[in-house]
Amino acid sequence: MFSVRISVLGTGYLGATHAAALARWGHIVSGVDVDPHRVDLLSRGVAPFHEPGFADLLREGVASGRLTFSTDVAAVDGADVHFLCVGTPQLDGADGADLSALWAAVEALAPELGRDALVVGKSTVPVGTAALLQERIDDLTPPNHGVEVAWNPEFLREGHAVEDSLRPDRLVLGTASDAAEARLRAVYCRLLADGVPVVRTDLQTAELAKASANVMLASRISVVNVLAQVCEAANADIGRLTEILGLDSRIGPQYLSPGIGFGGGCLPKDLRAFSSRAGELGVDTAAQLLGAVDDVNTYQRQRTVDLATRLLDGRPRGRRVAALGAAFKADSDDIRDSPALSVATSLAAVGARVRVHDPEAGRHLSGRSDLETRDTVESACDGAELTLVLTEWAQFAALDPVALGSVVARRVVVDGRLVLDPHRWTRAGWTVHALGRGDPWPPADTARRAG
Ligand SMILES: NC(=O)c1ccc[n+]([C@@H]2O[C@H](COP(=O)([O-])OP(=O)(O)OC[C@H]3O[C@@H](n4cnc5c(N)ncnc54)[C@H](O)[C@@H]3O)[C@@H](O)[C@H]2O)c1
Repeated sequence: MFSVRISVLGTGYLGATHAAALARWGHIVSGVDVDPHRVDLLSRGVAPFHEPGFADLLREGVASGRLTFSTDVAAVDGADVHFLCVGTPQLDGADGADLSALWAAVEALAPELGRDALVVGKSTVPVGTAALLQERIDDLTPPNHGVEVAWNPEFLREGHAVEDSLRPDRLVLGTASDAAEARLRAVYCRLLADGVPVVRTDLQTAELAKASANVMLASRISVVNVLAQVCEAANADIGRLTEILGLDSRIGPQYLSPGIGFGGGCLPKDLRAFSSRAGELGVDTAAQLLGAVDDVNTYQRQRTVDLATRLLDGRPRGRRVAALGAAFKADSDDIRDSPALSVATSLAAVGARVRVHDPEAGRHLSGRSDLETRDTVESACDGAELTLVLTEWAQFAALDPVALGSVVARRVVVDGRLVLDPHRWTRAGWTVHALGRGDPWPPADTARRAG
């Protein structure tokens, strides 16, 4: 098998998954991270985060000897393709991206770079970063060292990171030379053999690709949430409406779920960074459009808190609330900018006694004094006057409303993700509330018909 020596700087959700996928394809991979705890876990083949299939892929790579991890950047020695996968969070107090980890990684990497090395950006960055990176690397390496920068954005979805890495929808190769493209094609030869579509483009377009995809997805979710608000006002059914829209071949069913909105470590910050960078480039319409998308999203969280407060008779203080879900989405333990956690935290801030259960993310809440965490749905719901479903975990959708009804103090549930079968829950004596579905849902006559 054709094998390339590769380094991966930054081994978070993106970098660790990418490194393990590269090892699966037969490459020799050194992962480097500044977090010693993370490196220790990864080196022992222990997944530092929850991602379906990742633990097996990691163990396979480590056991093969092709996948190693270190905090010492000297471990990249011998590699001639280097992937930059460090975090690019939102700046403190501003909308732009904080690229400090990226610059720090490059400063550390530069002295280790061999002649003609290829440095490949995978992190999501503002357009124009690759050109600055090339300048910086030229400054930091000997004259005519021949190090080239390429951009290969990553589109993986948390919760599906392994399958998206091993079978991506497309590969984007942003390169300034045929030689760089050829080297990236060698890295991805397995995917190319599998027929994964490749788009070769310039560096700027490649940099824009990931943020643009997230701008499209975030906008779509906020549009659906506006439709849900109108449905609520008009006493229409958002579930049926999205079904109708999803059957339109121009629209399709993906990302049409109304609810408490998007979150996580990517969509919100990518939206804001894109808008900020567009403004720097003189494109003010981006801020107008995307500011509204962001506002609608934030409003969904507030609407959920308002609804919950109303269902607690406007007196949340001291009332027991069960929050099912803390992760920003199902099949992930990521709580960065999580709408679920935001709702739970807001209710706790007005005095509600919130007990949270999440199948994977609960461990990230230890040490928080405002929220109690529980290991099971039942213990979170024990004595609850209000139950909130805040993350779309399959096990929440499959809950038995009859059994849970005997645990809670009041059978009132807010389905923040539209995953519950309202007929089933209503038949079990619950009042089901959901943004976009009137209040409560289903209306009494529908419930009777269904029953
Ligand atoms: N998480 C996703 O689903 C996803 C998908 C596509 C793109 N991205 C992008 O990928 C990038 C990384 O995202 P993530 O979710 O993996 O972040 P993360 O926070 O999980 O991981 C970032 C890692 O970089 C490490 N790091 C920081 N500074 C470093 C340095 N100087 N040298 C080496 N390592 C360093 C951190 O310790 C951390 O382990 C971001 O730009 C993000 O927008 C993420």
